[in-house]
Amino acid sequence: MSDLDTLRASALSSIEAAATTADIEQLRVQLLGKKGAVTELLKGLGKLSAEERPAAGAAINQLKEAIGDALNRQKEALSAAEAASRSKASAIDVTLPGRAVARGAMHPVSRVLRRIESFFTSVGYEVVEGPEIEDDYHNFEALNIPAHHPARAMHDTFYFSDSLLLRTHTSPVQVRTMETREPPIRVICPGKTYRVDPPDPSHLPMFHQVEGLFIDEQCSFADLKGTIIEFLRVFFERDDLKVRFRPSYFPFTEPSAEVDVQCVHCLGEGHCRVCSSTGWLEVMGSGMVHPRVLEMSGIDSEKYTGFAFGMGPERLAMLRYGVTDMRQFIENDLRFLEQFQ
Ligand code: PHE
Repeated sequence: MSDLDTLRASALSSIEAAATTADIEQLRVQLLGKKGAVTELLKGLGKLSAEERPAAGAAINQLKEAIGDALNRQKEALSAAEAASRSKASAIDVTLPGRAVARGAMHPVSRVLRRIESFFTSVGYEVVEGPEIEDDYHNFEALNIPAHHPARAMHDTFYFSDSLLLRTHTSPVQVRTMETREPPIRVICPGKTYRVDPPDPSHLPMFHQVEGLFIDEQCSFADLKGTIIEFLRVFFERDDLKVRFRPSYFPFTEPSAEVDVQCVHCLGEGHCRVCSSTGWLEVMGSGMVHPRVLEMSGIDSEKYTGFAFGMGPERLAMLRYGVTDMRQFIENDLRFLEQFQ
């Protein structure tokens, strides 16, 4: 019977040492399973004589019960401990401070676009859009820029074919508007534009423009000046902002003018890097729509006149927010973007 005692001692000590409920199940198979140590002992009873059998059988059954009890007790203890540690791991500490949700911010160029749109819609303009992939006719021809016109040199772009290209300005949207609408027309056309300009502090190959177009009977250069001056004063939030119109040239407007504002940094004092000490900053192009441009799009230039202007939201955003390098708008550096929340 010392075999049974050895088995009992080793079985009970392994049960005692088991660390997990899975270990217990494994021990149960090893000891009491079909091929387990105790089962093997029971099978051995057949070899004993009829006199020996009852006592031996009783002793093995007692061992079997003792092992079964030990297994159950240890399993209970371990599963209670396991449940406790599971619930500890998933516990919610309601006293911890909440985790803030990261808030996005609107891109500075989008903010500027919104400001421009909100001014012009408040004075009766409608926002219209056009395709970024344009044809040569709408981007150049219909704007009085025929093939080989020198103005094309400043408008190099990305071509898909001889006649399809990424638009170099939003002016083709003014053509599309005149083709499809009757005057009076009051629209602004915001959107992305493209030119073969390698990125530098004041250029990007993809940038934005907002074109404005006003056409009506008896529309004059005074209307152009009044509209633009009012817009710039609202945009820069200065009622006394000085604005100057400098004669210029665009093939689609005549007469044409560049629009400058008093430097928003030095307020015209000079000795300033922002305005190269001139006291002025160029902010847009403008002019009275060329009669030939009106006629090409089917508008009677004897009856109607109009003005147009075009501005760059990136440039306006730089002036408004004091940004010195245009490339920052496309670098996606959160330290830069988070400042505009
Ligand atoms: N489309 C012109 C440009 O990109 C800007 C402009 C628009 C000038 C409308 C005058 C009138 O250079």
